[in-house]
Amino acid sequence: MNNHKYDLETDIERTIYTEEEIQSRVKKLAKEVDEYLENEMSRREIWKRPPIAVCILRGASVFMADLTRYMDVPIEYDFMSVSTYGDATEPGEVRVLKDLDRSINDRIVIVVEDIVDTGETLHHLLKAFGARTPRQLKVSALLDKSSRRKKNVEIDFKGFDLEEDLFLVGYGMDYAGKYRNLPFIGTLKEELTEQ
Ligand code: PRP
Repeated sequence: MNNHKYDLETDIERTIYTEEEIQSRVKKLAKEVDEYLENEMSRREIWKRPPIAVCILRGASVFMADLTRYMDVPIEYDFMSVSTYGDATEPGEVRVLKDLDRSINDRIVIVVEDIVDTGETLHHLLKAFGARTPRQLKVSALLDKSSRRKKNVEIDFKGFDLEEDLFLVGYGMDYAGKYRNLPFIGTLKEELTEQ
């Protein structure tokens, strides 16, 4: 390793979405969300009780930051951290590590995810959030890996359909905690994930 450069990029096998592709898609998605919210709420309502973007830590943090910064509508932030632990009796059960800080009662909530894979995480989250009587519960996910879906969940504002079953890193997504800060999305070289 040289002195000042870690060069995470050399560990990437194949780029799946470039930084430019991601930014251009996220910008369009932000416009879709803006338009949706402006149809649902008056300017006064938006100002008095802004919608709330709920980031599901940690993978969605980068997408959340870009999506909301491309939006015009004022939006509040909240954060939720969960871990999924599947066992034979209750597959995909979700344990809450950090709950929302504020009430979502009667608010328009946009759950922000980096990727929906089996759909277990989102399914449990939507059930839990739904019980807190939000005015509306919407989902924005950058990636939809629908080939692995086990739970039927609706994604209202979607970035990309990922047809292949690939393990991805970058733009918030990690392998062993690393690569989240790459500005693009790709697959890792095989030898790096072999144990
Ligand atoms: C990822 C992703 C979703 C979940 C999707 O989180 O951010 O929350 O998995 O998978 P599912 O549809 O099969 O439930 P991960 O558990 O990797 O945690 P992280 O966001 O902290 O990286």
